[in-house]
Amino acid sequence: MEVLEAIRSRRSVRKFDPEHRMNAAEIEQLMHHVILSPTAFNIQNWRFVAVHDPDRRSEIRKAAWDQSQITDCSLLLVLCMDLKSWDKSPERYWVNAPSRVSDSMIREIQHFYRDDDMLQRDEGMRSCGMAAQTAMLAAKAMGYESCPMDGFDFKRVGHLINLPPDHRICMMLCIGKPLAAAHPRAGQLDLADVFVTDGFTEIAS
Ligand SMILES: Cc1cc2nc3c(=O)[nH]c(=O)nc-3n(C[C@H](O)[C@H](O)[C@H](O)COP(=O)(O)O)c2cc1C
Repeated sequence: MEVLEAIRSRRSVRKFDPEHRMNAAEIEQLMHHVILSPTAFNIQNWRFVAVHDPDRRSEIRKAAWDQSQITDCSLLLVLCMDLKSWDKSPERYWVNAPSRVSDSMIREIQHFYRDDDMLQRDEGMRSCGMAAQTAMLAAKAMGYESCPMDGFDFKRVGHLINLPPDHRICMMLCIGKPLAAAHPRAGQLDLADVFVTDGFTEIAS
């Protein structure tokens, strides 16, 4: 599927065929594309949990106000971030670069993230957001629809997936075969409402 067409036709679908599951080869194909998404300093601070176990999915659904897409989708992904990935063998992220480049990047990574909890979390959100969009567009290309989600109890879902203490959840993503089309677009702002040139106009005081 052409990229612009995938962007235009991606919609949040809530009714999925519960009989359909993604097979291992499809999941691998999808995830190999997802991990090509960009991250700052190439720290790849996302972690993805695919939840296949039906009981665990039911528990997650309960923690998400009974939204049926959680149990019915073909693949349920919990997009998580490792807040400390920048400090976990960062040489891995630059292994193919010349040593003068990798040495300098590792120094910069340490300098940038150390002692800044908010930045570490923000970076995880940025990376997972990018990965989520890649996943949704790749899913389209593979004949699937999707629904991004943050309507759930993060603490409970964290417990259900055994989230490590230095990780956080960004969102969940349901991917599946649609049984019903998405609602018509709810209300799209005009481009002029969200797109400015050279900065925002000054607010008169
Ligand atoms: C971060 C995020 C969280 C969302 N959470 C939910 C959710 O919990 N349940 C749901 O049905 N839709 C959820 N949505 C889907 C939005 O309602 C949807 O993206 C929005 O209405 C625009 O529609 P579209 O995705 O079809 O273009 C979420 C979307 C995003 C980006």
